[in-house]
Amino acid sequence: MEKFETVEVQSDVLILGGGMAACGAAVEAAFWAKKNGKKVVLVDKASMDRSGAVAMGLSAINQYVGVKDGQNTIKDYVDYVRNDLMGITREDLVANIARHVDSTVHLFEKWGLPIWKDKEGKYVHEGRWQLMINGESYKVIVAEAAKNALGAENVYERVFITEPLVEEGRCVGAVGFSVRENKFYVFKAKSVIAAMGGAVHVFKPRSGGEGLGRSWYPPFNSGASAYFTIKAGAEMTCQEVRFIPVRFKDAYGPVGAWFLLFKSIATNGLGEDYMQTRRPELEKWKPYGMVKPVPANLRNWLMMLDVKDGKGPIYMRTEQAIGAIVAKTSDPKERKQKLKEVESEAWEDFLDMTISQAILWAATNTMPEEKPSEIAACEPYFIGSHSGASGAWLSGPEDIAPKEYFWGYTNMTTIQGLFAAGDASGASSHKFSSGSHAEGRIAAKSAVRYAVENPNMPKIDNAKIEALKERILRPLELFENHKGETTDADVNPNYIRPKQYLFRLQKLMDEYAGGVSTNFTTSEKLLNKGLELLELLKEDSEKLGAGTLHELLRCWENIHRTWQAEAHMRTILFRDETRWPGYYFRSDRPAMKDDWKVFANCTYHPNEKKWEMIKRPILSIY
Ligand code: FAD
Ligand code: ADX
Repeated sequence: MEKFETVEVQSDVLILGGGMAACGAAVEAAFWAKKNGKKVVLVDKASMDRSGAVAMGLSAINQYVGVKDGQNTIKDYVDYVRNDLMGITREDLVANIARHVDSTVHLFEKWGLPIWKDKEGKYVHEGRWQLMINGESYKVIVAEAAKNALGAENVYERVFITEPLVEEGRCVGAVGFSVRENKFYVFKAKSVIAAMGGAVHVFKPRSGGEGLGRSWYPPFNSGASAYFTIKAGAEMTCQEVRFIPVRFKDAYGPVGAWFLLFKSIATNGLGEDYMQTRRPELEKWKPYGMVKPVPANLRNWLMMLDVKDGKGPIYMRTEQAIGAIVAKTSDPKERKQKLKEVESEAWEDFLDMTISQAILWAATNTMPEEKPSEIAACEPYFIGSHSGASGAWLSGPEDIAPKEYFWGYTNMTTIQGLFAAGDASGASSHKFSSGSHAEGRIAAKSAVRYAVENPNMPKIDNAKIEALKERILRPLELFENHKGETTDADVNPNYIRPKQYLFRLQKLMDEYAGGVSTNFTTSEKLLNKGLELLELLKEDSEKLGAGTLHELLRCWENIHRTWQAEAHMRTILFRDETRWPGYYFRSDRPAMKDDWKVFANCTYHPNEKKWEMIKRPILSIY
């Protein structure tokens, strides 16, 4: 403990995270802060150039509304999101992002991101809302703009944010530790933006020892946003709405370009198109089963029914799709050229964002123009910015939010001074990389205003900070004090190492909360048992032991995941129906119920150490 220096950093606005939402927040906050003589600080657990979900790059920008080009209206986008989420969405938040997202995309292009253009100079669309990009360096470009706006001296990298600081009901900062040096950080600020992404590895991944850690969602994001907002006492929403993407099997390559750009279909092992043969099933999920495109979870569901019936493997019919594109022209020379073009686009799609999928294709002698590739449903993730919806419950924008959804500052949580964006903000799905950046900008403008209008901070109790420092660093002490007591440092009655803890959490979630091994199915009885076991695991979290700073990081990532897991199980239990069968299926409540067309929210009350479950009405703005 005494080896750890305490470093105190004061600012007006504190941005937590260095991903798409945080980078958007940095650019916007810097602008408004300069006008008002305020200081902005950003903290990322990793290196901003390659941190978060966009680390490897992306091959598409998934949200572009094209309002000025007359392509779509804001309402079109809200309709799309509402339908995809089976009616559960905050229209005011979605509309607010949709009306700002195009300008964010134009900024990306100005900063140097290559967006595909056709012969007339227009953006090349992957689908109605998606633009094709050469996105290998996407994150580097976006991070550079953020760092330039803030100034290098205001960016703290490789500092893991662990806990919120809350005084008199207001968030006044955060504490964390360096993952490289013996430094404990205390960040004090007048307003705080949580943008630390979603969560992965809460559930047991499909990959075992051979590919441990390989998942679709990036390993950097381990539930810090959810933990931070829950522990601050903020109301959370849609904690049951996990996301299960369907991806190329084992290496998790994206499917969007195949389904939308190349117009591929997927079939089962017998060659049947489950979207056709299983169509009658969609009737059960009316009205959302009838909309176009079919909601992501229902597309999953139809595929899962085939898998349950033993009709796998499921294939993306790449060879048919490429064949059909090439067959559009009869000239042999043009055909050859087209084939080459599509082939290279297919490989680039993976090389831009999921390099391991290209490696797997090479390793398995896969030529997409010759043979199909397997796809499969991934393990569950928490990602409020994609087709999931979990996150904090936020105030909407004053001009369009229903009054029940507005409490003074856009994108502020129910805790004064605490804002959220990207995966950290709930019930505003389908913002993706561009919408998360736009939402970061929205949150930042609002957070600067909060800092300007609320300059007097409550006093921060030093004893509280000392207690947090002791608790956060305790795993190092526990390990150091007891490691010599057994011959194998992994087996010791005085502590549990983070890897063993992680396996226990994942097994529990997999078996009781509807993971891969139970076909994403759970029930009241299973959830109650799971919660009982989770309580015991939480007791043991007090005994996590760490041999190094890196292991200390692993300990706290696990504690963050545990709270995300608890919020998830409690909310699945609370929602007395099945609404997203392709994300999870309640075997004891197998259908959707009209009276559950509401938000299922929850709040943890830190002082009483109690959870409260809350139903909130869905108020439409269109
Ligand atoms: P992220 O960008 O993931 O950033 C989270 C940040 O928080 C990171 O900087 C991380 O290091 C930091 N952090 C985490 N924990 C802590 C902590 N404890 N302390 C400090 N910092 C912390 N969108 C598209 O538009 N097009 C696509 O093609 C596309 N493909 C995708 C493919 C994959 C595999 C994934 C996972 C997502 C994809 N998305 C795509 C969605 C897009 O990446 C996300 O919507 C977006 O990145 C969310 O932004 P965010 O800022 O909330 O999270
Ligand atoms: S990504 O995050 O890895 O890029 P993905 O490849 O699933 O996601 O999809 C990219 C975009 O295409 C998302 O907007 C997704 O909702 C959409 N999409 C993917 N498959 C389909 C489909 N079959 N029908 C309609 N939209 C789809």
